[in-house]
Amino acid sequence: MRVLFIGDVVGGAGRRGLRETMPGLREQHAPDLIVVNGENTAGGVGITERTANDLFGVGTGVITTGNHVYRHRDAYDFLERERLVIRPANYPSGNPGRGFTVVEAGGMKVAVINLSGAVGLNVARSPFDTVDGILDQVEADAVIVDFHAEVTSEKVAMGWHLDGRVAAVFGTHTHVPTADGRVLPKGTAFICDVGMTGSRTSVLGVKPEQALASLITQMPTRFETAEEDVWVMGALVDVNERGLADSFEQIMVAAPVADS
Ligand SMILES: [Fe+2]
Ligand SMILES: [Fe+2]
Repeated sequence: MRVLFIGDVVGGAGRRGLRETMPGLREQHAPDLIVVNGENTAGGVGITERTANDLFGVGTGVITTGNHVYRHRDAYDFLERERLVIRPANYPSGNPGRGFTVVEAGGMKVAVINLSGAVGLNVARSPFDTVDGILDQVEADAVIVDFHAEVTSEKVAMGWHLDGRVAAVFGTHTHVPTADGRVLPKGTAFICDVGMTGSRTSVLGVKPEQALASLITQMPTRFETAEEDVWVMGALVDVNERGLADSFEQIMVAAPVADS
């Protein structure tokens, strides 16, 4: 079973880039399951039913999110009813949405779990305790984790915590890809951050001049999604019948330049 995981899709530019790139990626790699982090799909921050449907439209099987998931109030009802869109499992349990879901892919029952780091981000419970609790109860042949976290130490620790127990731990949230992707000794594919799907002429997806103005002047600044030089970033993992990873491959491809 082959999983293609795609990092935080930023704004309309990221969604367009994904739409233009996905047919080629699907043809080249033939993934059985596509998991996409959609927390930045709506105007660069948050997700809506419409932007989620854009991701489903390119073949996405499960959408994960993160700290921006509740930015758009009109999406709360959607998060409650759409079981293929998940939010961090260690958020307050009464919050809209669910923290994991199970799908059929490549002849396997695959659980996808979304977790938030506790360092520098608001959570209700430890991601380590939370994932242990889910793994105790979930019935699946393989488990994929999106660990949406700020610091590399916590992400690396989660990789070791889950090594041999899940097929893959994909880091998201920082929007900058790391170079540590590999299969850990007990068979879990791991990377600190797969990067984002959005403009590289940007600061994490935001127009550089606006991000710079904010940092230099420390005044309130309007942030808009940058559009130029969109890249799709993610990772590809082959999962064996034991529910562990046989391979890890980083994906970083430039989206075709759109005709104007
Ligand atoms: Fe993000
Ligand atoms: Fe985030």
